[in-house]
Amino acid sequence: MQFKDKVVVITGSGSGIGRGAALHFAKEGAKVVVSDINKKNGKETVRRIEAEGGKAIFIAANVANYEEVQALMQGAVKEFGSLDIAINNAGLGGPTVKTAKQDLKDWDLVIAVNQTGVFYCMKEALTQMEKQGSGCIVNISSMAGLRGLPNQLPYTASKHAVIGMTKTAALEYAKRGIRVNAVCPVFTTTPLLDLLFQSKEGIDKMLLQTIPVRRFGEVSDIVNAIAWLCDEGSSFVTGMALPIDGGQSA
Ligand SMILES: NC(=O)c1ccc[n+]([C@@H]2O[C@H](COP(=O)([O-])OP(=O)(O)OC[C@H]3O[C@@H](n4cnc5c(N)ncnc54)[C@H](O)[C@@H]3O)[C@@H](O)[C@H]2O)c1
Repeated sequence: MQFKDKVVVITGSGSGIGRGAALHFAKEGAKVVVSDINKKNGKETVRRIEAEGGKAIFIAANVANYEEVQALMQGAVKEFGSLDIAINNAGLGGPTVKTAKQDLKDWDLVIAVNQTGVFYCMKEALTQMEKQGSGCIVNISSMAGLRGLPNQLPYTASKHAVIGMTKTAALEYAKRGIRVNAVCPVFTTTPLLDLLFQSKEGIDKMLLQTIPVRRFGEVSDIVNAIAWLCDEGSSFVTGMALPIDGGQSA
């Protein structure tokens, strides 16, 4: 079991990539703290883990709320005694419109969740990991963190910021036994991608043409990369923003 008894907190694990990661880490022996703003979906992830004989608890948290993030990270330590891995995954898209048409409220929401939320989670996780002298953080950025994505300005801004925060924290904590990395998925089959597809007729076919291997990402593609970054086998890797993109960035 790759992650036997490791304590893993995964935000946004009521759906998509986060849920896939929660199921995977639990199967590999981890004690998983499932967290989401959506209580019903978060509890369903715990139910699925328990049904397969794994160990998990649910702590509801809106990552854009600092007190709730504090309660999440401290709750994990209270329940399981440590915090070995934090996967900062919770995120949302925004409306598909040009920059001048972006609504100020949408900007505030996307930045609050995707950017400030990752900062809050890193701040709390790093506080605990520094006490332990060990830990591993994986932030979920996007290919939109490495290049522009027309009609998604708040999202691209937030995902570029995630990479900047990842690199900065990696440098600060490299000597303290803590690694911080990011993954940058291309379009991956989850409810979030369905929303993008619904925004414009034919957008799915157009986006598929941008991926050299000619398929969209699967949740397992992203989860496998996250697991590798949390494994001892990648102990020399920190501060990296790893594209998982079917060759798109090439
Ligand atoms: N699916 C893709 O194509 C893709 C590509 C690149 C990056 N990503 C990133 O992967 C991450 C996961 O996305 P997904 O595709 O699995 O989407 P998803 O919509 O399936 O899951 C996102 C989860 O985050 C939760 N969430 C939203 N706002 C929250 C908040 N304020 N606090 C706590 N939880 C909140 C949702 O309830 C949901 O369960 C996101 O950060 C997303 O930006 C996804």
